[in-house]
Amino acid sequence: MRFLKLNFILLTFSISILCLSCHTEGASSNPIADSDFNKDWLFQKDSIANAETVNFDDSDWQKVTLPHDWSIDGPFDNKYNARTGGLPVHGIGWYRKHFTIEKGLEGKQISVEFDGAMSNAKVYLNGEYIGERPYGYIGFEIDLTKHINFGSDNVIAVRLAPEDLSMRWYAGAGIYRNVRLKINNSIHIPQWGTYITTPNITNGNADVNIETKLKNTGANRSEVSLSTVIKDANGNIVGETDSNDSLDANSEKAISQIIKISNVTLWDINKSYLYTAHSTLKIGNDIVDEYETPFGVRTIEFNTKDGFLLNGKKVRFNGVCMHHDLGPLGTGVNYRATERQMQIMQSMGVNALRTSHNPPSPEMLEVCDKLGIVVIDEAFDEWKIGKVPNGYHKYFDDWHEKDLRDMIKRDRNHPSVIMWSIGNEILEQGRKDGWKLTKHLNDICHDEDDTRPTTVGFNYYPAPFVNKLANHVDIVGMNYWPTTYSKIVEENPEMIVYGSETSSQTSSRGVYHLPIEFKEKHETNHVSSYDVTVGPPWAYAPDIEFDALEQSSNSLGEFVWTGFDYLGEPTPYGGRDNSTNGYWNDDWPSRSSYFAPVDLCGFPKDRYYLYQSQWTTKPMVHVLPHWNWEGQEGKTIPVYSYTNCEEVELFVNGKSFGKKVKGKDFTEIPSEYHEFEKGMYKTKYRLSWNVPYQPGSIKVVAYKDGKEAAIKEIKTAEKPSKIKLEADRSEISADGKDLSFITISVLDENGNICPKADNLINFKIEGAGTLAAVGNGDQTSLASFRAPERKAFSGKCLLIVKSDESAGAISITASSAGLTQETISILTK
Ligand code: GAL
Repeated sequence: MRFLKLNFILLTFSISILCLSCHTEGASSNPIADSDFNKDWLFQKDSIANAETVNFDDSDWQKVTLPHDWSIDGPFDNKYNARTGGLPVHGIGWYRKHFTIEKGLEGKQISVEFDGAMSNAKVYLNGEYIGERPYGYIGFEIDLTKHINFGSDNVIAVRLAPEDLSMRWYAGAGIYRNVRLKINNSIHIPQWGTYITTPNITNGNADVNIETKLKNTGANRSEVSLSTVIKDANGNIVGETDSNDSLDANSEKAISQIIKISNVTLWDINKSYLYTAHSTLKIGNDIVDEYETPFGVRTIEFNTKDGFLLNGKKVRFNGVCMHHDLGPLGTGVNYRATERQMQIMQSMGVNALRTSHNPPSPEMLEVCDKLGIVVIDEAFDEWKIGKVPNGYHKYFDDWHEKDLRDMIKRDRNHPSVIMWSIGNEILEQGRKDGWKLTKHLNDICHDEDDTRPTTVGFNYYPAPFVNKLANHVDIVGMNYWPTTYSKIVEENPEMIVYGSETSSQTSSRGVYHLPIEFKEKHETNHVSSYDVTVGPPWAYAPDIEFDALEQSSNSLGEFVWTGFDYLGEPTPYGGRDNSTNGYWNDDWPSRSSYFAPVDLCGFPKDRYYLYQSQWTTKPMVHVLPHWNWEGQEGKTIPVYSYTNCEEVELFVNGKSFGKKVKGKDFTEIPSEYHEFEKGMYKTKYRLSWNVPYQPGSIKVVAYKDGKEAAIKEIKTAEKPSKIKLEADRSEISADGKDLSFITISVLDENGNICPKADNLINFKIEGAGTLAAVGNGDQTSLASFRAPERKAFSGKCLLIVKSDESAGAISITASSAGLTQETISILTK
């Protein structure tokens, strides 16, 4: 997030009906004069004739503020594909916006920049076609100058046409990322105008190489000066330089500058540190453009001996793959929702993200820069050979080069980005000549940025190694073949390998089926949280990956499929069967994924703690299942515990069931993982006991060096009695965008969470904010994400409220028949 200066010197302007917002999310590296262009759009979802024309009557269109995902409003319906969320993600949608640009701005370069529009965007200004972009995940800028009416009304119209069967997950639909209006002088720094690298870092000093593009759209040659000032994170100037040059009429050129900075603070995992380069372009004494580029100083290195080194230290990826939706909020980009996702991931121990399978929002990279999370920035899920009938393969030939180059130009100043992924499970890997395309894409990446390696997530073995496709990327990602990491390196000693996608374990939060299910689907369409795979055939429990990584010191680590549950792809419910013609509705109402350790609302499932036990060091212990097994008194319940300590003791109603030692006491879990141990697999990553059920409590005590280090207790709950509200933040910005995430728990009269409660909770929201969304993480719920009510699922649901633009207080009351209601207040400033 950046705060932009509003006035810029001699060229101060005002635009009558445009709001020049100070807060442009995702706008890193953009000129000072960008303004938020998200407000006052009109929307209609329909195939409408002449909707681009100036005099078209749009008076009854829906008023929307961007970012906007039209499909998240639903309704869920099995006439839509469950694979893409059972939501109306396809069809034609039109957006129009009326705006005025002052007469005094004649002669300026005016353009509009979309961070992404889903999809097949065609843009018109005042009835004229001015550009298009099929790929919904890529940002693009369109020059408006030629068709602008200065001093009078203009109308920009955007037609989107996302197709059915064009995605393997929920992509959303609409202008779902931020849009900016850019007003520049004819001589200016264009889009993605700087490229900053730090090739030499020694003894606390760094050379900062800055390549700045300059553009002249005017008819005159001009002498210019470019001054670049580097400020540290506190705003202190730590280096500066000036260059003089000239720009021919209608030309573009790049100026290279080097600034040495000393006492450098490095950007690192969990320890972000960002510098900012301020570029000022002048003609004589007049400033004609200003531009800001946040960047970080860090070294990355990949080698066959140590794997991945960040700032000279070996780092293993404790990574997750993530799709781009924000759960109940849909795909409409929101900075806070993105930040919360990654904070929850970080609390699980995550240090790396793979943006599966497309360029992320600029906000996501901003968040990863800020939190200190490394990123594999992925371009494509398909090349020339399609996976779905209307996938990217239809556009590949015409657009792949531009899309890939633009992704790199947009993202290459982010310290978090450490690799470019040119594809996921691309079907060319099975082709003899697939290496040609791999080489071509690999070369494009190196042409745009030679400071980062390339990668692909392969899922065939040994095909890409036999046909040499894998030799044409720098780092080899393997999806779901943990036992091949060592094998690949033995067979190809020059290769560096990691798990680009792992596990695909599935589960539903707080749900436990007994006996423990392994392959069988359940009549409720839920998957048990004992976490021993009811996934797709290639799935395996997280333990198997941990084990494989321990056995292959040469692997760089893993990227779990996925960090958060996402909309669509409700495996194992629904199918991969071609007989359904690509529709996944056999197991309706399943409509969102079960894969992640965290549900769609951001609530941890048990598996979150299994990863935490492997990826974090602060003493923790977890126990499952819940302890409400009414009617099963005396029956044996398997109890699992996850810890990063050495041993755990289980107490049931105060009575010890003994200590179990990690690494010595194993838990048998069923496994069918190909290549691995079949049948019963003994995992050392879980401790377990079989306990005859009696109501009361189960408690686990974890010991480190023989001392108590962490405790967790679960009590049998009485019937639901009251509601608890917990806001993640009780003070938020009054900017019309900020969010507070409120967890609603159903408690018994003693304050214990009721693990099976499904009470319907009603919300009343008053004051300085509105309801943004509700959810509960149940993959089978067809209730609207926008309703002022939600049923609890496994005792919890989520309410998300958004601030208005005027400061005040938001009062939230949650009530439910038979439960004591609760009110909280959120301040907006
Ligand atoms: C992988 C694929 C992912 C997702 C996953 C589910 O093969 O790359 O996009 O579909 O399977 O297990």
